Amino acid sequence: MKNFIENLPKAELHLHIEGTFEPALMFKIAKRNHIKIPYKSVKEIEDAYKFDCLQDFLDIYYQGASVLINEHDFYDLTYSYLEKCAIQNVRHTEIMFDPQTHTERGVAFETVINGISKACEDAKDKLGVSSLLIMSYLRHLSEKDAFKTLKQSLPFKDKITAVGLDSSEKGNPPSKFKNVFEASVKAGYIPLAHAGEEGNADYVWEALDLLKIKRIDHGNNALQDPQLIKEIIKRDIALTICPLSNTALQVVSDLKDHPLKKMMALGLKVTINSDDPAYFGGQVNQNYIEIQKALNLSKQDLYELAKNSFQYALLDDKTKQIYLDELETYYEKYN
Ligand code: HPA
Ligand code: ZN
Repeated sequence: MKNFIENLPKAELHLHIEGTFEPALMFKIAKRNHIKIPYKSVKEIEDAYKFDCLQDFLDIYYQGASVLINEHDFYDLTYSYLEKCAIQNVRHTEIMFDPQTHTERGVAFETVINGISKACEDAKDKLGVSSLLIMSYLRHLSEKDAFKTLKQSLPFKDKITAVGLDSSEKGNPPSKFKNVFEASVKAGYIPLAHAGEEGNADYVWEALDLLKIKRIDHGNNALQDPQLIKEIIKRDIALTICPLSNTALQVVSDLKDHPLKKMMALGLKVTINSDDPAYFGGQVNQNYIEIQKALNLSKQDLYELAKNSFQYALLDDKTKQIYLDELETYYEKYN
């Protein structure tokens, strides 16, 4: 199974670039930028990666991102993740980035987007991994602030495919961002959002009805509401599930209790993703490996999950078909 997963062609659809920041790289970049971090060694950073809810994690995550200053910092961070994609046979990835985490500290939007997008272009050429970008608004900040970010992004519109919504969910419902999502769609971005990770089913409803999202990040709590499940299926919207993130943040207490299989049985379209791999104990393949073991998933299930990852990617149909054909050939040979 491990071998089957490692070589399975797949896409990653839920990944925060700031969440790929491995301690060793963080230490290196902090040093070259002469930024003091409250850790003396890589080991101390690793030891600090302990949290049991979304907010505790976010506090550490935003602090880590604060050493990113120059374009080549964003380039190195992104390229390092894309190298891991190549090794894992992630053929395509949809990368979220949080501009406000950086612009708030005085880093220019241009610095962030240029560093990330240059790494994506190089990875396409050198590693054969395709990618696109999702600009995520931080929901703990105001809608006005999100509007400012939208405006900053417009000169770089050709480099950004979609908008997302992340950070502290509880108390920051999708309705808070209705207007900026409407404006983002008008600007040509595809709307996506985290919903139902810590928030309840009503947040998922709002994300669907008010933000008009085309994919749900997490969505675990959609299971609270049978009517909502029906609606998600009817609209043919996928859920990007992150098993190791769910246990790290105690959205699910044990992988054995993870609702993934139940979701599949209900007819929901789900995908497997790493969310913030440097923080949650594994890249995307590790997520596949551990959830396979915990729920005793079959090769057919794994094939379904990988298939969804291409099917629900924000790619044109022709490109999707190329990846789906590659997956099909693989599955026929190794199942
Ligand atoms: N949830 C909300 N915000 C985030 C996450 C997450 O899992 N990861 C990075 N920002
Ligand atoms: Zn996430």
